[in-house]
Amino acid sequence: MPYKAKFKVWRGDAESGELRDFLVEVNEGEVVLDIIHRLQATQAPDLAVRWNCKAGKCGSCSAEINGRPRLLCMTRMSTFTEEETVTVTPMRTFPVIRDLVTDVSFNYQKAREIPSFTPPADLAPGDYRMQQVDVQRSQEFRKCIECFLCQNTCHVVRDHEENKEAFSGPRFLMRAAELEFHPLDTADRVPSAQEDHGLGLCNITKCCTEVCPEHIAITDNALIPMKERVADRKYDPVVWLGSKIFRRSKT
Ligand code: SF4
Ligand code: SF4
Ligand code: FES
Repeated sequence: MPYKAKFKVWRGDAESGELRDFLVEVNEGEVVLDIIHRLQATQAPDLAVRWNCKAGKCGSCSAEINGRPRLLCMTRMSTFTEEETVTVTPMRTFPVIRDLVTDVSFNYQKAREIPSFTPPADLAPGDYRMQQVDVQRSQEFRKCIECFLCQNTCHVVRDHEENKEAFSGPRFLMRAAELEFHPLDTADRVPSAQEDHGLGLCNITKCCTEVCPEHIAITDNALIPMKERVADRKYDPVVWLGSKIFRRSKT
């Protein structure tokens, strides 16, 4: 049965803004993005929202719903009671452009700072067969849709603009881990993750993992193993010596 839901939607720009109240129709099976579209169609034609696929795959409709980082297109209205007020605000960690749209260029900058996959220069096509276990490890990380909800959630940068230069965030520490664990990557990703991308600032709270719409075990499978490698290099003399003598041939 259709009903009228109470919505509070943040409207404004980089200078100022406020929550505005709306009463809007909701139909069975709808998601929050449907309601935002209905607001645009009926009450707020200039309401800015970013979206593309409406299928949880493009990563562009990230926002905060009742204070929790979520995809607008994957949050069903049935999550809330009919009496509940649904509050929709832009991601807090990134500068607002307008209404629900934020400037996420911080993430593209950090992406550029991670050196790309570096296979051995003399490796010919067909020379190497990956083990299934190595394929599966990369595949988990490559499910990332770059919604940046994990980046938005991480307390290291969420209310600490001053940490953004030193900290690349869970999505890009995970990218460093993906490459570090790749059997053919010859670059040494461990020191740069720690020193250039701020791995040491992560205190494994797992908040990033909790909000990931792809259910990637960011903390357990990427961040903690990278931290273990950092610790092994620092405190285990055998690992330290091995890292010096057997610098990745990996073929
Ligand atoms: S586990 Fe690390 S990267 Fe993830 S939210 Fe916590 S501090 Fe941030
Ligand atoms: S790791 Fe998950 S939460 Fe982070 S950007 Fe990728 S899909 Fe989004
Ligand atoms: S619109 Fe593509 S993930 Fe929501």
